[in-house]
Amino acid sequence: MLGHLLHLRGIDSVIVEDRSQEHVIERVRAGVLEQGTVDLMREVGVGDRLDREGLRHEGIYVAFDEPRGRVRHRIDMAGLTGGRAITVYGQNEVVKDLIAVRVASGRPVFWDAEQVTVGDLDRQPRIRFLVHGEAQEVVCDYLAGCDGSHGICRPSIPSRHVQLYERTYPFAWLGILARAAPSSTELVYSLHERGFALFSMRSPEVTRLYLQCAPDEDLQAWSDDRIWSELKTRLRTSDGWEPNEGEITQKAVTPMRSLVAEPMRYGRLFLAGDAAHVVPPTGAKGLNLAMADVCRLANALAAVYERRDESALDAYSERGLRRTWRAQRFSWWMTSMLHRSDSGNAFDHKRQLAELEYLVSSRAAMTSLAENYVGIPLD
Ligand code: PHB
Repeated sequence: MLGHLLHLRGIDSVIVEDRSQEHVIERVRAGVLEQGTVDLMREVGVGDRLDREGLRHEGIYVAFDEPRGRVRHRIDMAGLTGGRAITVYGQNEVVKDLIAVRVASGRPVFWDAEQVTVGDLDRQPRIRFLVHGEAQEVVCDYLAGCDGSHGICRPSIPSRHVQLYERTYPFAWLGILARAAPSSTELVYSLHERGFALFSMRSPEVTRLYLQCAPDEDLQAWSDDRIWSELKTRLRTSDGWEPNEGEITQKAVTPMRSLVAEPMRYGRLFLAGDAAHVVPPTGAKGLNLAMADVCRLANALAAVYERRDESALDAYSERGLRRTWRAQRFSWWMTSMLHRSDSGNAFDHKRQLAELEYLVSSRAAMTSLAENYVGIPLD
């Protein structure tokens, strides 16, 4: 997305990716786009397939145990936020659309780069790498570290120039894709005695589901039958609603952590997305924070090249951190409300149920969730 935004402003860029094109297109990630992300994609000409295939959701459900049984409560996000909504569209589909415009622009992408290193970050940054065994070097004005939480850019900042704030959670998500028609038109976030479960989807034929599990969960121990039985136990509501079953086409364990690197800049290196901050998936904020970063970074770089104005670039980190911490708070709150922790006791579970009951009975509480879930406009 950053490459595309820069291209539209006439700024050249080189993209270096250490995975293959197939890998990034196939790898299933999250799938919830905030209103601001959708608006941006449309505005810059990468929203056609999103408009055709994306599923606009104006509400979500939360389910939990109450004296009268398990009920799905709807939170009317659009009604509570003046018409803002989310769109369900896989992150890898977004990536596919962005690769297509990049290829059409003729600007370079190096796939399968090996032994990537970066240097001279405080002067004139350079990236060195191998492609098919051949050494390459790019010397540039600015380097955008968009290489994820395990990438090389963040660790290449001298440790005295960056402060990390981190929290790990004592659980993870086991996620599946199933060839099954979604049995609910909107997402269902569920807290059950046995742990969290989430019902989501990718298309009218594909359901996406998650189960809280241990961080070191052994996938081998989860037969398809066991997965369906656990999902149904945790999601089923007293009116008989449950997910439809179908062939499981993909299974993976997603770890959960919260991480913020401050500042998001070192010299001429600008961190964006998971390289700068990681959120647990419960609030569906990861991709959207990354989009906000690259939009802000592209605008700031354009101001430098068009008007020699560095003020927006100087404000990049501070403005990004404000959005990041807001998303961190929300993701942590959603996570702690909806997951059972081994170290938690019966008091904690009762407190979580009270929190959920308050949430679905108070317009103020629902509005607070809704305005964070649909996301604040890009700045
Ligand atoms: C997904 O559909 O992959 C998804 C939805 C909501 C979340 C996280 C992931 O909070």
